[in-house]
Amino acid sequence: MRTVNLGLIGAGGIAQAHCRAMSDIEGVKIVAVSDVVRANAERTAERWGIPKIFTDYKKMLKMDEIEGVIVCTPTAIHSAPSVAALKAGKHVLCEKPMEATLSAATKMVRAAHESGKILMIALKLRFTPQVKKAKEIVDAGTLGDIYYAETVADRRRGNPGGSFIKKATAGLGAAADIGVYALDTALYLMGHPKPVAVMGITSNYLSLHNTWNEALKQTEVEDFACGWVLFENGARLVFKTCWCMNMDSLGGTIFLGTKAGLRIGVGEVRGPQEGVILYHDENGEAKTTNIPIGESVDVFKAEDSAFVDAVREGKPSPIDPDGMLLTNVIIQGVIDSQAKGGREVKVKVPTF
Ligand SMILES: NC(=O)c1ccc[n+]([C@@H]2O[C@H](COP(=O)([O-])OP(=O)(O)OC[C@H]3O[C@@H](n4cnc5c(N)ncnc54)[C@H](O)[C@@H]3O)[C@@H](O)[C@H]2O)c1
Repeated sequence: MRTVNLGLIGAGGIAQAHCRAMSDIEGVKIVAVSDVVRANAERTAERWGIPKIFTDYKKMLKMDEIEGVIVCTPTAIHSAPSVAALKAGKHVLCEKPMEATLSAATKMVRAAHESGKILMIALKLRFTPQVKKAKEIVDAGTLGDIYYAETVADRRRGNPGGSFIKKATAGLGAAADIGVYALDTALYLMGHPKPVAVMGITSNYLSLHNTWNEALKQTEVEDFACGWVLFENGARLVFKTCWCMNMDSLGGTIFLGTKAGLRIGVGEVRGPQEGVILYHDENGEAKTTNIPIGESVDVFKAEDSAFVDAVREGKPSPIDPDGMLLTNVIIQGVIDSQAKGGREVKVKVPTF
């Protein structure tokens, strides 16, 4: 098995999880790290035995031995390094969400198509037994046609700080940070229907006026977002997310199908519990079945292994970037709708 050499762009918090996961995978080596803050690159290099350090990722991308990069910069700085890497002929594993704006995300997908290289967004929940089992159930036709869904990622008091609450680095708040998990899970299970219209609202009132953390008063992005999405196939999705609220929960993640219904709870995606529950009919009787989902897995190792395997074997991206782009289409729709006083906006899925 040949060794796949990777470079790391951005050496902050989440980069450590990828370095740890990659160090547990056979046949892969992180050979260089780049961070605008040299001390972050140095600390990460020392911790994980990475031989080369850069403060400019463009210089790192000139290393011929690098086949792929892991992009772990803040959200509004995902597109520039990913596009540069793809244009330099490198495969890209980029942290979630894809980007802060639809136009920046579109540039990433276009660069992936034009270069023929892998663009994988690190949606770790795709590798959980809950999502895998739910997908198996949906693909087997058990639910029939999904005509309505609600998807939720909520925290009562769970604001992050630092680069996550600033426009320049995060671009967006809860919708992109945790909401993307809820949206991606819903779109994946629904088979990526094409969104055509969105109505939504956002707010950061509670962060600005909170009574528990003075630093959060500097929040520049939304801490709450809610959207009503219409798809071309007639299905509807309600999307709700927040970092903080005066409530215990915004509900749960549910899928209504013509033959059965399903609830899922996994990680940031809110369910009544972690797991998958099927609501079905047996000879006219309403049945509720807790689906056995098996052992939990090391999601970072699973997603990083899938990326390395795709690079080594010349496979397509384990997480289709065109499907992923729909999360940006919808979040952008919510932001644009809020700017129009919550009125419905038509949305267009970019084509390549
Ligand atoms: N998958 C997960 O569970 C998970 C968890 C946390 C964060 N994330 C995502 O990871 C991304 C980064 O989050 P984080 O918590 O590691 O943030 P962080 O602020 O801890 O780290 C970001 C790093 O990027 C560096 N950086 C900024 N601009 C750069 C540039 N142009 N070139 C090189 N380096 C640059 C910063 O100096 C910093 O070291 C975010 O998009 C976030 O959504 C994912």
